[in-house]
Amino acid sequence: SNTILTDGFGRKHNYLRISLLEKCNLRCTYCMPADGIALSPKANLMTADEIFSIAQTFVKNGVDKIRLTGGEPLLRKDFPEIVSKLSQLDISLSITTNGILIDRYIDVLKQFKIKKINLSLDTLVSSKFHTITLRNQFEKVIDNLHLLLNNDFQVKVNVVLMKGFNDNEIIDFVKLTQFLPISVRFIEFMPFAGNEWDRSKMVSQSEILSLVENNFAENEIVKLEDEKNFTSRNYKIKDFQGDFGIISSITNPFCDSCNRIRLTANGKIKNCLFSNSETDLLTPLRSGESITNLISDAILNKKKVRAGMVSIEEMDDPVLHFDNRSMIAIGG
Ligand code: GTP
Ligand code: 5AD
Ligand code: SF4
Repeated sequence: SNTILTDGFGRKHNYLRISLLEKCNLRCTYCMPADGIALSPKANLMTADEIFSIAQTFVKNGVDKIRLTGGEPLLRKDFPEIVSKLSQLDISLSITTNGILIDRYIDVLKQFKIKKINLSLDTLVSSKFHTITLRNQFEKVIDNLHLLLNNDFQVKVNVVLMKGFNDNEIIDFVKLTQFLPISVRFIEFMPFAGNEWDRSKMVSQSEILSLVENNFAENEIVKLEDEKNFTSRNYKIKDFQGDFGIISSITNPFCDSCNRIRLTANGKIKNCLFSNSETDLLTPLRSGESITNLISDAILNKKKVRAGMVSIEEMDDPVLHFDNRSMIAIGG
């Protein structure tokens, strides 16, 4: 049944995003505060068995899609064990990764039929990659992108846009889709604890579209049909192999069709990316209690739009997202 995962607005939550850990091998400034975050004690992180057990409860109640996130999910030493367990469930399983460890795990991904990979890559310039991630891993990530494509994975490339940093690469990313069968998704920069967001740093959906319209003929730009529970609104340049999309969480939210629920690495439910009222599942699970009612309460508490921040002016108010986690501990 779907009732436990249906919220007060009739939205059915069939997509669970599980964060496997709070650590990353990059230091992207929009994701991780410069002075780091207070990590959960190791004993408070879900084990592989606990992840499986909680996932199983969600699947029994209607979840059919699970995405593993982080931090960087491939940094979990027991990543093979986790996907081996989850692959027993009747779900589509995917990951969002920075790509650095893809070559190490490509056989595991194939073995457990993980065919869709979302790869974070914010620039096509090696020196700028270092500026944003504070690490020199650009070539590795590019090599691994090609490795994935040569092995027939479906790859979406996530590009967080920031004014003055990579907005001048929007057209280069679109042109990348001419010969690569990838989906590039431009993401509006979003506010989280410690990432120094302000609206002026964000590149909006309308700015992205204007740029594309100025660089391609009108009859070359094809709007694709929205997917059922889309995050990105997608387009394609005629005859290009890949496509591109825009994830406009700030200027054009897509909460009406939200089907997503999040489980943090320390076993708490977030009913919205922007919600800081979390529901602990791990402690009750460890004391042998049922978690079903807790899940249903968390879903029923979900707000209609962005955890209650309906307008863009409310997004501007730092007090409203002050207490939320940093992105590194949410997983996107
Ligand atoms: P697909 O399953 O391939 O559609 O991927 P996805 O877009 O659900 O996930 P991904 O991890 O690739 O996230 C891409 C961007 O979309 C990240 O910046 C996420 O924070 C953002 N995103 C994902 N889900 C949500 C959501 O429910 N709400 C909002 N506002 N943003 C989201
Ligand atoms: N705003 C928008 N997207 C973000 N991501 C991380 N932090 C932010 C932010 N502040 C993206 C990453 C990754 C995805 C899971 O979330 O680039 O691709
Ligand atoms: Fe869903 Fe919250 Fe994202 Fe809106 S902001 S789509 S309600 S997770």
